[in-house]
Amino acid sequence: MVPSDTLTITDNRTNRTYTLPIEDGTIRSMDLRQIRTSNDDFGIMAYDPAFTNTASCRSSVTFIDGERGILEYRGYPIEVLAEHCTFLEVAYLLLFGELPNEAELNTWIYEITHHSMLHESTRKFMEGFRYDAHPMSMLVSTVAALSAVYPQAKDVQNPANRLHQVKRLIGKMPTIAAMSYRHGVGFPYVYPDNDLSYTENFMNMLWRMVEPKYAANPVLARALDILFILHADHEQNCSTNAMRSVGSSLADPYLCVAAAAAALAGPLHGGANEQVLKMLDEIGSKENIPAYVRRVKEGHGKLMGFGHRVYKNYDPRAKIIKWTAEQVFRVTGRNPKLDIALELENIALQDDYFVSRKLYPNVDFYSGIIYQAMGFKPEMFTVLFAIPRTVGWLAQWQEMLTDTEQKIARPRQIYTGHRTRRFLPMQERETAGVVKK
Ligand code: CMC
Repeated sequence: MVPSDTLTITDNRTNRTYTLPIEDGTIRSMDLRQIRTSNDDFGIMAYDPAFTNTASCRSSVTFIDGERGILEYRGYPIEVLAEHCTFLEVAYLLLFGELPNEAELNTWIYEITHHSMLHESTRKFMEGFRYDAHPMSMLVSTVAALSAVYPQAKDVQNPANRLHQVKRLIGKMPTIAAMSYRHGVGFPYVYPDNDLSYTENFMNMLWRMVEPKYAANPVLARALDILFILHADHEQNCSTNAMRSVGSSLADPYLCVAAAAAALAGPLHGGANEQVLKMLDEIGSKENIPAYVRRVKEGHGKLMGFGHRVYKNYDPRAKIIKWTAEQVFRVTGRNPKLDIALELENIALQDDYFVSRKLYPNVDFYSGIIYQAMGFKPEMFTVLFAIPRTVGWLAQWQEMLTDTEQKIARPRQIYTGHRTRRFLPMQERETAGVVKK
């Protein structure tokens, strides 16, 4: 009798039957390779552009149930972590799998705090950018440049060495982010202040002017901390996949994080929060929403901050962000864009186009409105996403490096081009018509 946890496939080309094991609701693509029509047939592959139905790893970091709108880090619901923890506590959880006790947390905070300075050559490197450089471009390039500052980071198989780089990266990301902002506005750089918490120090490096000591507004500092918790990891998204893919070649973690941040910069991923603000500006007022939604439905652009590859329900992070927005607005005053956003959400969630496609607001829909109220320019939004996501990237990178099943990431292709053509000397070639003068 055939075991029940198997899949039986009949190849109608040969009439042969194969029985493949099912483990965790998954068959192994390599098990398909045995399905061949002849000895010199390569065997069947799985074709999955954009990995819409392919598990690339086993992971115990983050759980998402997209149908039910559930997000958990290491088994803890995101709502609980956002309510009770600080960002660095959650960072510890993501990286090491358990919540720290008080002594562990204090040591962890001390170590991250003492890795927040940049080498002066890195500061000068950042000064070399044009005055109008996008802060995300500066962040990606500067993180990559840290690879030159810390050549010993190449020893990625050494756990102690890895941990050292992990602390450096988490410590330095806010410093690089803040410098990328101050460069754009022409303010002098502010060095880290070790007396302050992670987010307070970030605010200090962003906004301190001539006062001898920066005092962050506690409500805004907590809101930023919550936003950092919400953005810390999100399993195998585009940037995490980039982190794992580049990391699988054993490149050093600075190069891997730069690659992941580059993936995050795109408007379909972390860059969406900046696009949401542009969209709300373009809409301008509530009366223009129906016409805007109609244009989206006719295929002219997308509703930025809506839809998700995994969530087919309300993004649980978007709910917490809405609550956080209320706290922030009590301090900063209400961002008028919130009313447009709320009305847009309202209209979209009653519209069959969005309902039938299960398109709900995602994390980026409301985060930009809060960030703007706090005084951030839209160009900074994706940088704000990259700071906490660095923790998730590093947790996933460590998991990948210690997973004995992983190898260098190297997908297959279905080749659609020409085969072995006769080479034509220049005088025999016709106009290719590709490059026009
Ligand atoms: N506005 C209008 N239509 C949409 C949208 C949207 N925001 N998102 C998806 N659709 C439509 C899409 O055109 C398609 O329609 P049809 O079936 O008629 O062809 C259908 O919904 C399914 O969409 P898809 O493009 O196949 O879905 P995907 O899983 O490939 O893409 C996504 C997911 C997030 C890239 C996409 O929803 C999108 O582009 N959203 C806007 C950008 C955005 O907010 N990105 C942030 C994502 S969350 C945070 C993060 O990852 O950083």
